[in-house]
Amino acid sequence: MKARGFRSFAKINLGLEVTGRLPSGYHELKTLFATLSLHDIIEIAPTRSGISVRSDHPGVPLDETNLAHRAAALLQRLSGRKGGVAIVIRKRIAVGGGLGGGSSNAATVLRALDRMWNLGLGLEGLIEPAKSLGADVPYFLFGGPALGLGRGDDIHPLDLRLDQKVLLVPGPGGVSTASVFRRFAERGGPPGAPSRIDSFLRKSLSPGTLRNDLERAALDESPALAEVARRVRRAGRSAGAVLSAMSGSGSSFFLLFGDAAERAGAIQELRDAGIASVRCSFLSRRAYQSRFEIAGC
Ligand code: C5P
Repeated sequence: MKARGFRSFAKINLGLEVTGRLPSGYHELKTLFATLSLHDIIEIAPTRSGISVRSDHPGVPLDETNLAHRAAALLQRLSGRKGGVAIVIRKRIAVGGGLGGGSSNAATVLRALDRMWNLGLGLEGLIEPAKSLGADVPYFLFGGPALGLGRGDDIHPLDLRLDQKVLLVPGPGGVSTASVFRRFAERGGPPGAPSRIDSFLRKSLSPGTLRNDLERAALDESPALAEVARRVRRAGRSAGAVLSAMSGSGSSFFLLFGDAAERAGAIQELRDAGIASVRCSFLSRRAYQSRFEIAGC
């Protein structure tokens, strides 16, 4: 049966404050999510039964530990559907990069199967299933600029226009979210009092004040990451970046520029230091929704 194709976009966290610990053991956050144009492509074909996952990237698990696999199994269970799906993940988003790749894939499968199976769950009906798959999954039902509270899964879409040029530097990988949070807790928790939401958003968008409470812990966790951070910051400073920061729990960094010429300068400087970077742009919520399905795929 014919496959349909969907774009599964990456996110960055423009700012991330850890505000406490929840009874579940998870950390309580305040974060500003934004979607990037960088995306994986997910093809889904109906089959008679079962769920299979294939990928062009060796780092993607193909069994039931894959979040996209778990998302399909969950909707199959909730809807009582007998038919199965064959899922192909064409990876462009760095694996383990703090860009939400696996969570985005899971949300894409939820949205796509709601559509393909005519379940009529919609955004509202998919929120609880998304939360049960992981803290970053609900954000990808919305896309665009959004405030994340709670575990990062209580999503409040924001009317913010982000038009800076983005340069993404995929980190060396190998930094697990759970170990960064563990080290963060060992280091004594949040470095300062939590900000009010309005001041958090202002700081997250301004040079010099963006705060990612997980960065220190992630750099302690990986000396290779600390070296990339130094080089990225140096290139950003000399090329005139508005902002440079680590995304989420790492290991990717991003630089924001006012114009494309400055960004080109940073690409060259990073290349000279042996560091690859990816040019991309921010996506509005409207573009996120309208570019979801690939026509004629
Ligand atoms: O939800 P997800 O599986 O992406 O989280 C991975 C791990 O990161 C969790 O098991 C938990 O240890 C940690 N985490 C946390 N607080 C959050 C999100 C994740 O402590 N808000």
